Amino acid sequence: MTLARLGVNIDHVATLRQVRRVAYPEPLEAARAAEAGGADAITVHLREDRRHIQDADVAALRATLRVPLNLEMAATPAMVAIALRMRPADVCLVPERRQEVTTEGGLDAAAHEPALRAAVARLKRGGICVSLFVDPEPVQLEASARIGADAVELHTGRYAEHSDPSAAAGELAGLAAATARGRALGLVVNAGHGLRYDNTRALAAIAGIDTLNIGHSIVARALIVGMERAVREMRALVAA
Ligand code: PXP
Repeated sequence: MTLARLGVNIDHVATLRQVRRVAYPEPLEAARAAEAGGADAITVHLREDRRHIQDADVAALRATLRVPLNLEMAATPAMVAIALRMRPADVCLVPERRQEVTTEGGLDAAAHEPALRAAVARLKRGGICVSLFVDPEPVQLEASARIGADAVELHTGRYAEHSDPSAAAGELAGLAAATARGRALGLVVNAGHGLRYDNTRALAAIAGIDTLNIGHSIVARALIVGMERAVREMRALVAA
C-alpha cells in the first residue's frame, strides 16, 4: 500500500501577516520550515479578495520551493491567466464566495461542466496538473472525469465536523467509496478541509488516497509548539 502524502496549506501564515499589513510572518519562511518537516507539497489559495496569500507570495514560492506548489483558485479567466503565468505544478479549482470564512462546499462540477472543461483544458495545455475540489459524491466524480481533470480533491468538511472520529464512520465510508470510484475513473484522489491531529489518521488509511491537504490545524499547532522559544528569545532581549 502506498502511503498518503501531505500537502501543507500555509494560507493562515499570510492571514496573520495581513491583519497587521506588515512583512511578517513570511509564508515563504513557513513553507521552507514545512519542507524541512517533511511536507510533500505546499498549498496556497490565492483568493479573489486577496485576504491572505498575495500574488507576490505565489511568485516567491514558485521560484524557491523544492516540493511542488499546489495553487488553489477560482475557475475565473483572471485566475487562469495568473496560473498560466506562475506555472505551479498543480492547480486545484475551488468554488469561492467573498463572504465565506473558508471554502464551504465542493465545486458543482456536474452543473458547470462546459466552463470547467474550458478552464481545465487551458491549464493542462500550460503543463499544469488540474484537480477539482468536489464533495465525495459519484455524480461529481463522474463529471470531473468527463471534464478532463487529472485529479479531484474530496471535501472532507462533513467528516471533520464530527469531533469524535468514530462518530464520523459513515462519512469516512463515503470518502473511501468516493476514493475507489475516483480511482476507477482514472483520477488521482486527494482530500482535505478541516483535518486535524485527531481525525487525519483514519482518512490517511483509505486505500488509494494520494495527498491530504491540511492547513489551519498545522498553523495553529505551530503557534503553540513555537511559543516557548519565541518568548524565550524576546525575554533574552528584554533582560539584556
Ligand atoms: N483543501 C481545500 C480545497 C481548501 O480550500 C482548504 C482550505 O483553504 C484546505 C484544503 C485546507 O483546509 P484546512 O485549513 O481546514 O486544513
